[in-house]
Amino acid sequence: MRTDLGAEAGFPEGKPTCVTAGARTIAVFRVSGKTYALDNTCTHLGGPLCKGRLDGFVVQCPWHGSRFDVRSGQVVGPPARTPVKAYPVTVEAGRVWADLP
Ligand code: FES
Repeated sequence: MRTDLGAEAGFPEGKPTCVTAGARTIAVFRVSGKTYALDNTCTHLGGPLCKGRLDGFVVQCPWHGSRFDVRSGQVVGPPARTPVKAYPVTVEAGRVWADLP
């Protein structure tokens, strides 16, 4: 389902943002002028990725330090082993849209 995450200007460069979309929370990241969206729930033990620290394209979970590439959701640092879901993002007329299942 195509979901409006908000105005592009509301997502600061280099800092994760938490967005509530229906019953779920999405972690939104803006890096080098592009916007990315991941499921907020860390695949280790459920930490909130939107509260994590962003370093380039990598977000670090605030609970135990797992690291994920915000472009793909792939794990780039343990203890998580399973990728987090990455959602396709488009920007139209200054608004950010994500394709959510
Ligand atoms: S819950 Fe994210 S690293 Fe453990």
